[in-house]
Amino acid sequence: MNGPSQDSHGPSWLAGDRRVCWHPYTQHAIDPEPLPVARASGAWLELHDGRKLLDAISSWWACLHGHGHPRLVRALSEQASRLDHVMFAGCTHEPAVRLAERLVEVTPPGLTRVFYSDDGSTAVEVALKAACMTWLRRGEKRRTCFVALEGGYHGDTFGAMSVGDPDPFFLDLAPFLFEAERVPADAGRLEELLRRRRGEVAAVILEPGVQGAAGMKPVPASFVREARRLCDADGLFLIADEVMTGFGRTGTLFACERAEIAPDLLCLSKGLSGGMLPLAATLATEEIYSAFLSEDRMRTFFHGHTFTAHAMGCAVGLESLRMVEEERVPARFEQIGERIESGLAALRSEPAVQDVRRIGGIAAVELGGASGGYLSDWGPRLREACRRLPHDVLLRPLGNVLYGMPPACTTDAECARIASAMVDVVNEVVTAV
Ligand SMILES: Cc1ncc(COP(=O)(O)O)c(C=O)c1O
Repeated sequence: MNGPSQDSHGPSWLAGDRRVCWHPYTQHAIDPEPLPVARASGAWLELHDGRKLLDAISSWWACLHGHGHPRLVRALSEQASRLDHVMFAGCTHEPAVRLAERLVEVTPPGLTRVFYSDDGSTAVEVALKAACMTWLRRGEKRRTCFVALEGGYHGDTFGAMSVGDPDPFFLDLAPFLFEAERVPADAGRLEELLRRRRGEVAAVILEPGVQGAAGMKPVPASFVREARRLCDADGLFLIADEVMTGFGRTGTLFACERAEIAPDLLCLSKGLSGGMLPLAATLATEEIYSAFLSEDRMRTFFHGHTFTAHAMGCAVGLESLRMVEEERVPARFEQIGERIESGLAALRSEPAVQDVRRIGGIAAVELGGASGGYLSDWGPRLREACRRLPHDVLLRPLGNVLYGMPPACTTDAECARIASAMVDVVNEVVTAV
């Protein structure tokens, strides 16, 4: 391990982190020092002192095949040497076109247009804006309300926060957010709401299959199907946020396939570039796209980001999608989930464990009892145990939920290691109470 400036407290630049960096979702007053990661390969991260950690949560659910996959690295460097980036307004390039063509082919039917952006939040912003601007173009100005699911998370920009469940992250931002109604994943409740707000709703947005940030909570396919039916009955747009679930994570290429539905707008990011580069895409139907076609420039979709359709991101995304198909990644995730879940069996009889569940390649343990819930006491205890216990697995709980969701290259032995680390962490926190 080459650590020229390393000492017993970590590399010298770590002091700089303390001095000038502000980390996401981090309470700098009490959270431990960040792990100094020097390199990564496959399912493993290597810290500055040479210690290796299994990336059991795919670096916030993005790393699809494994870190630094040679095929993706090759696609990246070949593209970088040819064309790094060019603005996508008034210009175009082959990687963006080829990737868009493939996305239209592999996503649910009816999605014919691809709008690129940078990350999950911007993919959602594009979908929200396209939905409400389509209604405006049609002269329906009262449709200003979005309908979302309780527990939903769609990102941290203002539109995405507005449709996300404010509890617990965005509660104090309520005055700055636009109107969204929230219902549980219950078709009767959704139907009643849509009836009550008839003529005022722009779109329904949901995470089909699994609500990630809510604690890997399953969203039943039957509910997603009903949501599609209710949207159709009212002529409403259905936005599927597959930022987390896309590219095989739930065992099918897209979670919408589990419900056998096609949304009007589909948000993709994270695994779109194999998790290597920031890239996102919002797919739309021809109906939505054509609402903006006009001789009148004022009807343009006035939206764009500097790095829209980044050429290197698109080239890597295209190669990643080839790998997803050639290596049957959705099926591999299914096996990975099964392996981890089977290693968690002992936890099912633990009284403090409320649920052990699996959706595709995601296996989760939820702690319950009187102190259940996202901001429950379990959260800090789980986090602390994840960091302190002498295992070599990087885990990061979602409140009272501990989960494993590693990249597709993870071996069976590594899955067993993840499960065993999860069991140790849960045993540690439940015996401490
Ligand atoms: C379902 C979903 N939508 C949107 C986002 C936001 O993505 P990003 O963090 O890339 O902005 C996330 C992030 O975890 C997500 O899980």
